This record gives sequence, C-alpha cells and structure tokens, in this order.
Amino acid sequence: RTAALTVDPAFRIAPADRRLFGSFVEHMGRCVYGGVYEPGHPAADELGLRADVLELTRELGVSTVRYPGGNFVSGYRWEDGVGPVGDRPRRLDLAWKTIETNAFGLNEFMIWARTAGVEPMMAVNLGTRGVQEACDLLEYANHPGGTRLSDLRRKHGVEDPYGIRLWCLGNELDGPWQVGHKTAAEYGRLAAETARAMKLIDPEVSLVACGSSNRGMPTFASWEATVLEHTYEHVDYISAHTYYDPSDGDVDSILASAVDMDLFIDQVVATADHVGARLRQTRKLKISFDEWNVWYQARLQADLDRRGWVEAPALIEDDFTAVDAVVVGDLLITLLKHADRVGVACQAQLANVIAPIRTRNGGPAWRQSIFHPFALTARYARGTVLRTEPAGPEYDTKRHGSAPAISSTAVYDEETGELAVFAVNRGADELALDLDLRSLPAAAGSEHHTIAAGADPGAINTPDEPNRVVPRELDRPAVDGGRCTVRLPGRSWNLLRFT
Ligand code: AHR
Repeated sequence: RTAALTVDPAFRIAPADRRLFGSFVEHMGRCVYGGVYEPGHPAADELGLRADVLELTRELGVSTVRYPGGNFVSGYRWEDGVGPVGDRPRRLDLAWKTIETNAFGLNEFMIWARTAGVEPMMAVNLGTRGVQEACDLLEYANHPGGTRLSDLRRKHGVEDPYGIRLWCLGNELDGPWQVGHKTAAEYGRLAAETARAMKLIDPEVSLVACGSSNRGMPTFASWEATVLEHTYEHVDYISAHTYYDPSDGDVDSILASAVDMDLFIDQVVATADHVGARLRQTRKLKISFDEWNVWYQARLQADLDRRGWVEAPALIEDDFTAVDAVVVGDLLITLLKHADRVGVACQAQLANVIAPIRTRNGGPAWRQSIFHPFALTARYARGTVLRTEPAGPEYDTKRHGSAPAISSTAVYDEETGELAVFAVNRGADELALDLDLRSLPAAAGSEHHTIAAGADPGAINTPDEPNRVVPRELDRPAVDGGRCTVRLPGRSWNLLRFT
C-alpha cells in the first residue's frame, strides 16, 4: 500500500504558534495536589513544587498552561487561595466531590509557571460568580498598585503585577453538569459584560468565550452563534473542547478521532465567521482548543458516586497505550493543520488526570505513552505550517465511516532550512509514503522517529517499565533528486526530519 505527499514551502498556512502546545492544570484529582505540588516529597522545593514534575514539564515543551479549571473553576473563590496558607479556608468542591484545602492558589501557580517557563492562561468563575469577582481577580493579578486588591497582592509578597494576558470567560457553561450551567443567551450576556469590564481594567488582555463542550452537544453551533452574537466584538477566541474515548476497544475508530476534531474546527470557524458577517465584523476570531485529549470516560461517575468527601482523590488517572499515543500525535497534526484559525490549544491535563505525566504520592514521576508525540511535535514544529494534501488509501471505521489512512502536516523553518513532516498511518498495514520535496532542493533526510502500535497496541509505561512506549528511530530517509520513500508502520505516528 502506498501514499504520496508533496511539500512545497509556497503553500503556507500560518506560523506554528507556540500556544498550540499548551496544557492544563486543574484543581482536580491529583493534578495539583500530588502532581505539580506535594510538600514533603523528596523532590519538592521549600514551597512544595515537585522538581521532577517541573523537569518533565519542560521536557514536554509545554508553552501555555490553563488554570485553575475546568469544572472546578465554576464554583471557585479565587481569594480563598491567596494570603497566609494557615488562614485559607477548606471548601467543598462540588465539581469533583472533593475537599479543597486551598493550600495551592494563584500565587503558588504563578511561581510554578515561572519556574516551568510557561505562560499562564487564567479562567474566571462565571458559574456561581459574575462580573465583579472576575474584575477583582484581574485587579489583584494585573493592576500595578495603589488600590485595595493590587495592594493586597503586594502585601502577599508580589510587588509587580503579573500581566496575565490570556483569560477564559468561564468553563463549559453549555454543560448541564456545570455548576451554574446557563443557556447560551444567559451566558452570552454575562460573558460580554464581564469582557467589557475586564478590558476596562486591562486593555491588553485576550479573552476566550466558552464554546461547546464537544461537537456532540445538543446545542452545538447554535450555542456558539448565540454566544458570539453577544460577545464577538469583546473577545479574541471562542473555545472548543473534545475528548475521544477508547473504552469500547474499537481501535480503527479511535485512530480516526482526528477526523472528528477536523470537522469540529471547520464547523466552529464557519459558525464564527457567519456571526462575524452578520455583525459586519472584519476581524476574524480564533479558536482556543483549550481542552483536548484521549479519555477513558466510563469510570468517572462510578468513582464519584462510590466515595464521600476527601482531599485530592486519584481521579481519571488513565493509563495511556501505544494506540492512544498515535491518536494524540494525530490530534496535534490536526491542530497544526488549522494553525490559521486555532490560536491556542491545551492538552488536558498535565499531571495524573488524563495526563502525559504521572506521579505517585511520595514516589516517582514518569512519562506516559502520550508524552512522546507531544514532546517531539512541540520541539520540532517550528516555523511555518505548510499545507500538505496526502493521497492514499481509506479504511473503514464504525464511528467515522470511511477515513483516510494517512494524515499529515509539515512545518518549515525558513531560517534554519529545517523541515519536519508529521504523518500518521491509521491503518493496520504498513504504508510506503512517497514524498516529493523537489521544492526544497537542499533537503536531505536526517531522522525518522516512529511510535508504532501495531505489535503491542495495549502497551503502557509504568514506573517499573517506563520505556515500553517510546519513539524508535528507523532508517534515515534517503532523498534522491528531491524524492524520498519512507515506510510508515501500521498504526503509527511518525516524525520525519529533513535538514
Ligand atoms: O479535564 C477534565 C474536565 O473535562 C474539565 O474539568 C471539564 O472542563 C471537562 O468536562
């Protein structure tokens, strides 16, 4: 079986924005407590930040981290998490049936973000709260001083304002599970008023209005249309969230998940542009794909029902397989392919909770299978994303119908002349991929890294066997007269580098 792909630097989509390699730290399960923060852990600093997790975060290449939720933010009082730790209240977190100690809050997160070298993306509570509390948080975080809340920040030891640029106007308020769930019109009005007030405090902020929690929501598209009718002129992004569930064991379908993500992006763009046209707007909005991943969803509700109120329970600590790594690589390809309209993307979440990084309390931290395609994409997708139109066979899936066996994108760095081609073979059979690189005369193959799920699709990484699913290097691609053929193993994610 063969497929063909032409790479031409003339076919530019957009720069590969670093913000596409975002992640997400929510007060959920052991993402914060026992994940990024664990006082007393041998690797923790005096504040309780785990150095091993920080090191893996840097290795992962994460650019932007969304915080503090998620469903959690819809009941959160940000002021509970600042000031002397001993004075902070213990609260019920209704989203995850958890006791929140508030030992970790905004200022701890900002120290963590600075140490990790990531840009913060903050969410305000528009579930149980409104305009005033969002303004209060922004004043505390970004106003230089001389007011009650900015001076409170200074009293808390943070002299300079944080200057946080990216803000989410709530989370998944289209979802009936959300504390403070709203209709599109209710949310649209609230988001617009909050946005207007926040921009009065700090005109430099970029704001994200909540889109749908996934493409299957009954209100999908009409939600975006109504919300944007209210908010279009005040916001910069509309969000999208999606999780793909492999629980039914249908490997062919889960491997084609990116077909759905691709359609989701196209449909949100179409909806946003339609509203923009009706409102006579010339500025185009971008998508903030601020939650995406693979997630074995079946287990969550039973877990919540089974137990009482506890601190930092282990929640949705999915073990990701080799197949899941291929899917994650393909979702990243899809985000890059839409780099002209997707401006931010956050894999959910960073540590323990459906995460590339796992930890044990008091114990080791390790890389899950999905860590690797993320890290290599973040490292090598530098420069301009180029349009590639792969031609190849299709294969049948139950969930997505007939799907292309190959998906791909290419990122070209004009300054260094380096080209990275990312390609997934979703089919079970090996594919011979013919690459036409004649528009890049100097291209010479340098590396072919692959994660192939064919031989051991269910393989996972554990602390005892941390390297069962890692990228393997295959033969160096041989370029002859600008042409090159590489073998993509069945069910594999691939990075081909040309210098
Ligand atoms: O990432 C886990 C949860 O999934 C988030 O809290 C929520 O926004 C989504 O439903």
